[in-house]
Amino acid sequence: MPQPLEIQFRETDPGALAETPGRIALFADAGAALSPAARRLDRATRGAISRATGSEAFAALKPGEALELAFPAGLVAEAVQILRLPRRADQAAARKAGSTIARGHGGAALTVLAETHPRASQIAFGLALRAYEFEVYRSAPAKPRGPAVVMVASPEAVAAEAGPLAALAEGVFFARDLVSEPANVLTTDEFAARLAAMQELGLEVEILEEPDLARLGMRALLGVGQGSESPSKVVVIQWRGGPAGESPLALVGKGVCFDTGGISIKPAAGMEEMTMDMGGAATVAGVMRALALRKARVNVVGLVGLVENMPDGRAQRPGDVVRSMKGDTIEVINTDAEGRLVLADVLWYAQERFEPKGVIDLATLTGAVIVALGHDNAGVFSNDDALCNAFLKAAEAEGEGAWRLPLGPGYDAKLKSRIADMVNSCGREAGSITAAQFLQRFVRTGMPWIHLDIAGTAYVKADTAHGPKGATGWGVLSLDRLIRDRFERG
Ligand code: BES
Ligand code: MN
Ligand code: ZN
Repeated sequence: MPQPLEIQFRETDPGALAETPGRIALFADAGAALSPAARRLDRATRGAISRATGSEAFAALKPGEALELAFPAGLVAEAVQILRLPRRADQAAARKAGSTIARGHGGAALTVLAETHPRASQIAFGLALRAYEFEVYRSAPAKPRGPAVVMVASPEAVAAEAGPLAALAEGVFFARDLVSEPANVLTTDEFAARLAAMQELGLEVEILEEPDLARLGMRALLGVGQGSESPSKVVVIQWRGGPAGESPLALVGKGVCFDTGGISIKPAAGMEEMTMDMGGAATVAGVMRALALRKARVNVVGLVGLVENMPDGRAQRPGDVVRSMKGDTIEVINTDAEGRLVLADVLWYAQERFEPKGVIDLATLTGAVIVALGHDNAGVFSNDDALCNAFLKAAEAEGEGAWRLPLGPGYDAKLKSRIADMVNSCGREAGSITAAQFLQRFVRTGMPWIHLDIAGTAYVKADTAHGPKGATGWGVLSLDRLIRDRFERG
């Protein structure tokens, strides 16, 4: 498992600052007095810090951005990064400051002078999220980084605040690691084993194997995996931190460990990226991990459908008709529209077994959502305005892009089949919406439901404020916040 950046909180020692090696980060605001540590450094550098913070360049910075002094005379440090961050900065600006520090952080020692800044724990969180790297398969990983030392006035108080954030970071990293793993390593068996290992954290993990799924009637899910050597599975992860007997929130994830498209095979260019087609399941796993680590006072059940979509002599064909667990029949027009077949059965099972308060599914479901929203926003679909608005608010607060798209009977009508109850694919127009309409057919009437199409946000092609390019763990932060705000007891 990759080692994330270690962060230590220590008491500020202003006396040692001039001798501190490596990189130093400090916080200031244009027009405001320097902090005590910054004043020390200012004296040691004969005013270089105050000249920088008094400059036009500094005044032009946005909160969370930085100016850098390289090899400042009078200091041992090789660089001082001066971040513009007002004391009343919001959470987003504090995380951005942390991420700016992370971007400059190479092999050298790093000392962050947070002192009495009220957002110290969020600065550290932003630093941790952005410093993540997936280097399991590099023979020569980037230079090892020692711990980042964050100097604060009261290490115990900040560490207490940082505890739940560390749990969240671990959840995000767990999701990112899963998405980054190649499909020859992260088979359905390996994925299930990594989930089963979370039992150590107090989660209850149950693995349903192919015979169990057949007995339950999950023919839609089983059809997708039948061309693969890797057995299809459904993994049920329960966190019962809330009152016994209180119905849970259900999270459902698409876990296609590799999506070749099946017999409706995808073009070769870019197919290697379909190792990320289990991103929904990864986010569900990351949320469950975070809930367990921070001992959340809530009942949540996570269910993931793990399959591999391969072309083979036994693979499902276009034109096949399968019966879902719900009982509805589906004509498989396109074997590459496999995610909805997996989710149909797992959604139904989640509702039948757990009678949940609500269901939220996550899936790298359609290329069409990338055409519509790019990589900045996930597509959000819901039958419940209150729950949906609460989610959108949580996503906004966490800086995870999310944009609601419509549902409606006109779109649903496109799912008509010549011989079965519905088709699994109906052309290019509104592709993300018709996929969501398909899923909604497997949501009971009256069941509050959100569908998150994360095809664009689970895996990105450029660095973001939250992390490097590649796997993002999108949704772990927003869902954890939604659960805290709306489902958890105080
Ligand atoms: N896993 C893909 C969607 C996807 C595309 C995820 C690009 C991430 C990046 C999904 O299974 C798929 O193939 N969807 C088809 C649906 C179509 C056949 C109706 C698509 O989007 O082309
Ligand atoms: Mn597909
Ligand atoms: Zn897929």
